[in-house]
Amino acid sequence: MIAATVGSAVGLGNIWRFPYEAGVHGGGAFLIVNIIFVLLLGIPVICAEFLIGRHSGADVCNAFSRFKRGRSWRFIGWMGLCASILILGFYSVVAGWTVYYIIQSIQGFEHVHNADDLHNMFVQFSSNGWMPLLWTVVFLAINFLVLIRGVEKGIEKMSNILLPALFVILIAFTVNSLLLPEAGSGLEFLFKPDFSAITPSVLLGALGQAFFSLSLGLGCLITYASYFKPETPLVKTASISALLDTMVAILAGMIIFPAVFTFGQEPAAGPQLVFEVLPSIFMNMPGGMIWSILFFVLLFVASLTSTISLFETATAFLIGRGIKRFKAVCITMAVVLCLGVVCSLSFGPLADATIFGFNFFDFSDYVSSNILLPLGGMCSSIFVGWIVERKVVNAELLGTSTSTFKLAVVKAIIFSLRYIAPTGIGLVFVFGLL
Ligand code: PHE
Repeated sequence: MIAATVGSAVGLGNIWRFPYEAGVHGGGAFLIVNIIFVLLLGIPVICAEFLIGRHSGADVCNAFSRFKRGRSWRFIGWMGLCASILILGFYSVVAGWTVYYIIQSIQGFEHVHNADDLHNMFVQFSSNGWMPLLWTVVFLAINFLVLIRGVEKGIEKMSNILLPALFVILIAFTVNSLLLPEAGSGLEFLFKPDFSAITPSVLLGALGQAFFSLSLGLGCLITYASYFKPETPLVKTASISALLDTMVAILAGMIIFPAVFTFGQEPAAGPQLVFEVLPSIFMNMPGGMIWSILFFVLLFVASLTSTISLFETATAFLIGRGIKRFKAVCITMAVVLCLGVVCSLSFGPLADATIFGFNFFDFSDYVSSNILLPLGGMCSSIFVGWIVERKVVNAELLGTSTSTFKLAVVKAIIFSLRYIAPTGIGLVFVFGLL
C-alpha cells in the first residue's frame, strides 16, 4: 500500500494546483512557507493519520472509536467525508480537462499557434457548458468501474508503474524548460523568496496546499494505513511520501515558470495556468505531440490514483455505517456528480453565481483545502498527541527499534503533534481567516 499512498499524494495537487497557487501567491515566498509547513506540520500529521489507521484497522467512521476515550472524536470522520466529497467535485472537473487535453494532443492542437490561441482555446472549452461536463462524466465513469471492482490490487499496480514513469517524464520536461530563453526569470520567480510578499493569505494558501498535496486531513491516509502491514515503518513511509510529493511539485514549478516567462504568459493566471502553458512547451519540443500525449495520459492516471483514494475514503466511511459497497459507491458518485456539474459550470453559465465572492469551483477548493483539511489535521494531531496512550504511540511509531536517532525523531514528532501542529494551524487560521 505504500505505492498507493504516494499515488494518492501525487496528482493534480502537485502538477496543476501547486504552480497556480505559487503563481497567485508570489512564487518563492509561497514555496518556502509550503516546505516549512510540510516538514513541521505535514510529516507529523501524516504519522498521526497512519497511526490511527493502522492501530484501528478501520475506516474513518470507526477508527476513532477503537481507541480508549476515542468515541467523541468520530466527528473528524464526518468532516473528512464532507471534505472528500467537496474535493472530488472540483477535482473531477480538472481531471476531465486532462482527458480533453489528451484528445487535443492526439489531434496535434490544431489551430493553435501561440500563447493567445492556447488561452482562447481554454476559455472556449471551459466556458462551453456541456463539453467540459461531458469529460467530467467520462472521468467519473472510469472511477466507477475501478471502484466497484475493489481497489487495492489495481491501484497498487497502477501506482508502481505510473510513479517512475511520471518522474522520468517530468525530468525530461524540466531539462527542456531549463533550456528556454527566459528560464532564469522563471527560476528566480519560483526560488527567490520575497519575504515581504508573505501575508496571512499566503500562509493560509501554503498551509492548504501542503495538506491538499499530501492528501492529509480528511482521513484518506487513515483509510489507506488500515491496510498497512504491522511491520510497515510509519515514520519512514511518511517522510518518503512527503519528500516525493514535494519533489514532484517543485519539478512542476521548474517546468511551468520558465515557460510562463518565455512565452509571455501571466504567472497569476489561476486554475487554467498549467493548461495554457504546458502545450506551448510541447510545441517547442521535437516530437512534441508524443510528449504531449504521454504527459496528459500520465497526469490523467495520477489524478485517477488520487480520486480513487478520495472515493475510497468516502465509500469506506459509508460501508462502516452498514451500507453495501455498491450502494456506497453509487451514493458518493451521485453527490460528486451534482457538485461536479456546478463546479464545471462555474467557468461558463454559472460564472456570476458566487458565495462569499468565490464562484462554486473556487469555493469548494477554498473551503476544503484551506479550512476542512487543516482543521481535520489539527484535530487528528491533538487526538494522537493528547488522547491516545503514549505506549500505543510509541509502539506504532517506534516498533521494536532502540536506535537513538529513531527515538529522537519520534520524540520530535510527538512534540509537534502536541504543540507545534495545533498552535501552528490555529495561528494560521486566526490570521488568515479573520
Ligand atoms: N493529494 C492529491 C493530489 O495532490 C489530492 C488529494 C487530496 C487526494 C486529499 C486525497 C485527499 O492531487
